[in-house]
Amino acid sequence: MATPLAPEPDWIRVRASGKINLALRVGAVRPTGYHPLATVFQSVSLFDEIAVRWSEPGRFSVTVVGEQADQVPCDDRNLAVRAARLLAEHYGPNRLGAEIVVRKTIPVAGGMAGGSADAAGTLLACSVLWDLDTTPDDLRTFGAMLGADVPFQLMGGTALGTGRGDELMPVLSRGTYHWVLALSEDELPTPAVFRRFDELNPDAPAELPLPTGVLNALVAGDAAALGAALVNDLQPAAAAMRPGLVRILQTGTELGALGAIVSGAGPTCAFLAANEAAAVDLSVQLSSQGLCRAVRRVMGPVPGARLITA
Ligand code: C5P
Repeated sequence: MATPLAPEPDWIRVRASGKINLALRVGAVRPTGYHPLATVFQSVSLFDEIAVRWSEPGRFSVTVVGEQADQVPCDDRNLAVRAARLLAEHYGPNRLGAEIVVRKTIPVAGGMAGGSADAAGTLLACSVLWDLDTTPDDLRTFGAMLGADVPFQLMGGTALGTGRGDELMPVLSRGTYHWVLALSEDELPTPAVFRRFDELNPDAPAELPLPTGVLNALVAGDAAALGAALVNDLQPAAAAMRPGLVRILQTGTELGALGAIVSGAGPTCAFLAANEAAAVDLSVQLSSQGLCRAVRRVMGPVPGARLITA
């Protein structure tokens, strides 16, 4: 059998990036069950690959390969399948079908919006496969129906997210940032982290201030200022659920990171390094501590979901 993600003519392939929240301010839960956010997303160079090809009408299947593939459901809960079905329902319920293959590199339930990246990649790949007349705005609208992070995972780069995190504005960001990621052995379910946030923050505000410290550092291209401004209101909740995260964050800081933060709802931890050489150094030293499943070096910002044309 041919490698599923080989560049064969009948497969459409997309690369979708993971994200870090450079700032994640969280307000009081709304009746919808969602929390208002003021967040700054940055896409980083950790990629899932999504490949799709025609299947018989009404048939949607997914195979997941790569890191932690066994932890991803392959039934109708899979976000890639849900993305394909959503598009098909809108554009041709009795005409469209897709076989989907996802190669995982972004940690599963790791706070880097890996599932949302797969949904974003599938929306793009299926719209090309089925030759649909969709605009980027249309895809973002479908994306928001699938999850709050999906619109950003389509867009990529650096953006301010408000509302549920799905109302986006591009952010001016100078330079490239070098990150070291500490990937965790286990997962942290996002809804549970938000629930713990509610318990820890009974007086969370309804309105949130803009994360100006992070925004100013990005405009200036000042890595040291960005490191100092990183903020995540979900971090205490994630750390309460995974106490080992505190030690990992401390270790990265002691090893010279400019800033240390839990990524999104965790448990992935992100460390900002001054430059590429410092990131190499930090990743080697952090690996040798044996505190996490794996250490990855990534850069940001990078684009969101994009076709692979080669
Ligand atoms: O939108 P998505 O399905 O990715 O969100 C997963 C869960 O994260 C939601 O069901 C909700 O519990 C929580 N969430 C939230 N507020 C947000 C985004 C996500 O409470 N703004």
